[in-house]
Amino acid sequence: MEISKVGVLGAGLMGHGIAQIAAQAGWDVVVREVDQEHLDRGIGRIEKQLARAVEKGRMEQDDADAVRGRIQGTLDYGDLGDSDLVVEAITEDLGMKLDMWRELDGIVKDGAVLATNTSSLSVIDQAVATKRPNRFIGLHFFNPPQVMPLLEVVQTVTTDEESLKTGFEFGEKLGKLTVHAKDKTGFIVNRLLVPYLLDAIRAYEEGVGSIEQIDAAMKAGANHPMGPFTLLDFVGLDTTKSIADIMFDEYRERRFAAPPTLRKMVSAGFYGRKSGRGFYDYSGEQPQAVDPGL
Ligand code: 3HC
Repeated sequence: MEISKVGVLGAGLMGHGIAQIAAQAGWDVVVREVDQEHLDRGIGRIEKQLARAVEKGRMEQDDADAVRGRIQGTLDYGDLGDSDLVVEAITEDLGMKLDMWRELDGIVKDGAVLATNTSSLSVIDQAVATKRPNRFIGLHFFNPPQVMPLLEVVQTVTTDEESLKTGFEFGEKLGKLTVHAKDKTGFIVNRLLVPYLLDAIRAYEEGVGSIEQIDAAMKAGANHPMGPFTLLDFVGLDTTKSIADIMFDEYRERRFAAPPTLRKMVSAGFYGRKSGRGFYDYSGEQPQAVDPGL
């Protein structure tokens, strides 16, 4: 199916990046937020990234202006009506997603493909809230979407071949490596990555090494760009816990169970980079590992 306009729901961590790369690939994009403050913040992030790309000589000013010109911000679902593909990247809360899809389903034109960027919820649970479960797919991007090369394209038991193909074509035009994933909680990457992150916390709890040592070891010993605690703080401890809880609920396996340290840190509001403190403290020039003292 030919895409000319892409709708993005949410201009947060993932949504702003998805809107930016879709506009960079040449599509008109409309990005919707709940209020002006969140919208301005998301659009501001995009403008900052574009300015940085120009500054670094990766993009001409005219091209950056054209990309920005293709992005329309809105608070109104009505502006997504003529989108050919709508990707949601709102809060990872099934109830909120279902309310949103029920409202949007009556607004977005027939034939458009709807997609969720969920990291852990079952895609089918959202698909059946719409009158077009055959036109519903998962498109799982990785943080930061502007940089990470992978896109998981998720097929549910109701997804038709044309919608799946649209998902793959979209990802390929974005320049992503696309992989097909079945609608199993965690898909491919989080199914393997989340137990690894949780196990790093268990290793720390068991005294295998300090936060810095475990991070340094995985960087130098496995060639990972970030150690597990830096990555936990980057993804967000609240997000990781919520993914772990959903996966544990689904599979009932210990490897998906959130360790006590993670639970307590989330209760304390230590969410990682976004809150200024997680396994590291971000208030100084350089992040400093903090002993959670648990
Ligand atoms: N948005 C846009 N661009 C960004 C960015 C961001 N948030 N962060 C970094 N970049 C760009 C920089 O502009 C830079 O580009 P340039 O060299 O052309 O200027 C390039 O990425 C490299 O950035 P830096 O030099 O600042 O830093 P690094 O070399 O350390 O790279 C990183 C940063 C790409 C984040 C790298 O550390 C990395 O790959 N880390 C692992 C990230 C990861 O594993 N993500 C997946 C998380 S799991 C997930 O998302 C699933 C979800 O469901 C939980």
